[in-house]
Amino acid sequence: MHGPQPAPTPAAAPAAVCRAAIRGLGVYVPPRVLTNDDLSRMVDTSDAWIVERTGIRTRHIASPDQAASDLGVAAARAALVDAGLEAGELDLIICATTTPDMLFPATACLIQDRLGARRAGAFDLLAACSSFVYGVIAAAQAIEAGVARHVMVVGAEVLSKLVDWTDRSLCVLVGDGAGAAVLGPAEGGGGVRAAVVGADGGAGDMLKLPGGGSRMPYSDEVLRQGLHYPRMDGRTLFRLAVRVVPDAIAEVVRRAEWSLDQVRWIVPHQANQRILEAVARQMGLPVERFVSTIEHYGNTSSASVPISLWEARGDGRIADGDRLVLAAFGGGFTWAACALTWGR
Ligand code: ACO
Repeated sequence: MHGPQPAPTPAAAPAAVCRAAIRGLGVYVPPRVLTNDDLSRMVDTSDAWIVERTGIRTRHIASPDQAASDLGVAAARAALVDAGLEAGELDLIICATTTPDMLFPATACLIQDRLGARRAGAFDLLAACSSFVYGVIAAAQAIEAGVARHVMVVGAEVLSKLVDWTDRSLCVLVGDGAGAAVLGPAEGGGGVRAAVVGADGGAGDMLKLPGGGSRMPYSDEVLRQGLHYPRMDGRTLFRLAVRVVPDAIAEVVRRAEWSLDQVRWIVPHQANQRILEAVARQMGLPVERFVSTIEHYGNTSSASVPISLWEARGDGRIADGDRLVLAAFGGGFTWAACALTWGR
């Protein structure tokens, strides 16, 4: 005869406490502004086409002597001030970039040196335009795992340095800029609640820069064929984004145990205003719930989500206690979504 059985151990409840929160934000964009009219004097395009097809009116362009780390350092310094932290308190720096200063060392190491963040480890993260959201998720994991207490995630991009300024299909889209977020342990009700990351490497040909890597090192032939420029199948990317982003947002909301109605703001990657509108339509949400900054900045790749967060916090749209979803997609093909409650 068996004695009374012990009560089964209840299944582990999903973490109810948010353990990593964004504690500070910073942004830097180069002062030079390029308008659509400026572009129409450079390539066969028009203000009307660009506004109607993309929603972009202006973008910031780096000066010849500015590289990704220069923009990143400025944004990171501003984020440290915003967080009330010293560089020496950082344990890790993640630089989200598709346009590093050079293949190596990592741009994150250049930023670490310039900040004087002696204690911090540093690495770059490349998931194209999804990199910043991937970085926030990685930072939250590092904090939750006890590997780091304060992590700087910097999205820094100078796409203007890589695009072919005679290719109207791409050059009208891009802008330069950097946005940074400092994450640390959550003290109150704010913090990262759930995450989704995804990739479909089979769709990588849609957006790629084939030359200059180990597959096709620079040569006269690479330059002659223009393989040192990014190339993009914009229509396919558009369709894929509209298919994948709504699912990623819905899934991260489900993992956070929220409903879509409870999400105050979706802060998406800014690739095209029409993509935001199509995603909103597909999800049955008013497009006004999607923070849009593409009009003034263009597509700043990894910098677009932190720039949009910073803008929306700055103008009072995002307030403590708001539930947000950061969502991005980009070359790779990659996507990521992160659900978080705003506040420390
Ligand atoms: N000015 C004027 N006409 C143009 C321009 C331009 N800058 N670019 C393309 N066109 C023309 C095309 O040649 C085409 O002409 P045709 O009909 O005679 O062949 C016509 O406009 C329509 O071209 P489409 O490519 O079908 O235009 P579409 O409406 O798809 O818009 C766009 C193009 C804006 C690129 C869109 O497809 C898009 O936004 N896709 C997603 C891009 C994206 O998400 N990129 C992410 C990363 S980008 C990066 O990181 C660098």
